[in-house]
Amino acid sequence: MEITKAEFVQGSVDIATCPVTTKPEYAFIGRSNVGKSSLINMLTGRPGLAKTSQNPGKTQQINHFIINDSWYLVDLPGYGYAKVSQTERGKWEKMIRSYLLGRENLHCVFVLLDSRHPAQKSDLDFMRWLAENGVPFAMLFTKTDKQSKTRTKALINAYVARMLEEWEELPPYFLTSAEARDGRSEVLSYIASLLEQYWQSLPKTKDGKPVF
Ligand code: GTP
Ligand code: MG
Repeated sequence: MEITKAEFVQGSVDIATCPVTTKPEYAFIGRSNVGKSSLINMLTGRPGLAKTSQNPGKTQQINHFIINDSWYLVDLPGYGYAKVSQTERGKWEKMIRSYLLGRENLHCVFVLLDSRHPAQKSDLDFMRWLAENGVPFAMLFTKTDKQSKTRTKALINAYVARMLEEWEELPPYFLTSAEARDGRSEVLSYIASLLEQYWQSLPKTKDGKPVF
């Protein structure tokens, strides 16, 4: 899939103020600093589109980007940032929970995981919560350029083995590097397949236009 257009729409502080739309959206979530905003920039091919930082806690709102005028990528604030107060964390959890459970046009959540680290409890808990609540998700392992391919492979195999201790079936997963632009075509093809499924599922008139 070609991305011909990618534009920032708005940052929202809660689900109530998110753009009103039925267009499909795909959200990026994961620990602070894992590389969510960088990956959005890499996928869209627009380096400054989502703001990135070396310091965790950069993205603070639900940021919508409209792609090819027809679907959205959504950049979310990270979790697990130690310096955040209990009150702030509570606010984050409430905002994210209501977004993930209540956003009807959210088709898939991409959970980002740092490929250099073994499975962490907060990520495993979060993915279990998504599954329990029927939120479809895929996993994106990030920053693979930071270590050798052999090491990445060993860590991913261990991650998969850890998950299979409690999961009957694993969600799709992809290896990515925003720096080396790895995994771009795989992730975009996956999104394209989800979009295609959705568009096919819409009722259409004889001229092929979706009915709504
Ligand atoms: P928050 O918004 O704070 O939750 O962080 P984030 O998950 O959006 O991370 P962000 O994209 O801002 O990246 C954090 C840091 O990691 C930045 O310094 C990036 O340059 C760096 N980074 C992100 N992806 C990669 C990657 O694939 N490779 C390398 N080497 N560095 C990366
Ligand atoms: Mg960010």
